[in-house]
Amino acid sequence: MRAAVVTVSDKGHAGLREDASGPVLRDLLLDLGAEVGPIHMVPDEQDQIATLLRLLADGGDLDLILTTGGTGLAPRDRTPEATAAVVDRWAPGFAEAMRAASLTITPRAMLSRAVSGVRGRTLIINMPGSPKACRENFAVIAPALEHAVETVCGGAYECAAPDPAPPS
Ligand code: MTE
Repeated sequence: MRAAVVTVSDKGHAGLREDASGPVLRDLLLDLGAEVGPIHMVPDEQDQIATLLRLLADGGDLDLILTTGGTGLAPRDRTPEATAAVVDRWAPGFAEAMRAASLTITPRAMLSRAVSGVRGRTLIINMPGSPKACRENFAVIAPALEHAVETVCGGAYECAAPDPAPPS
């Protein structure tokens, strides 16, 4: 699985706050055996978030993008709107499962407007912004991720495997 992590944070982007959540997600993905590049950082600007998501998903080699931050009710929180603008199909089960499981941990899970969907062959899933919430939410989706990306690809063979050797 080839994955990217996008941290959405005005303060992180401005260098006023260290990004704690992006590295947590990156480590969790690595533990799962995924290939993960450097963490991307973007401010809470809907257009900039959407542009980055398009760029990453249309690059052609990513199975999964996890975003962290900007899913709540604060005035500048726009990650779900940016994600909605770029996905061509919804995959609501991930966001539904994360909210349902998170509600057993904290009633504040109701505040996350996280969405999940597919652009091309890339699954995009929003996560809340705190490292704790990232750990809790990742634990919910992790068991389904491998099969999910295989399904999006149309089968592990077609997308993930190298080109078959030509017949001799
Ligand atoms: N989900 C889990 N599992 N654990 C949490 O601590 N925090 C909530 C919610 N979801 C939380 C959670 C809180 S306090 C907020 S404000 C929302 O996620 C949105 O977070 P965000 O705006 O950083 O994306």
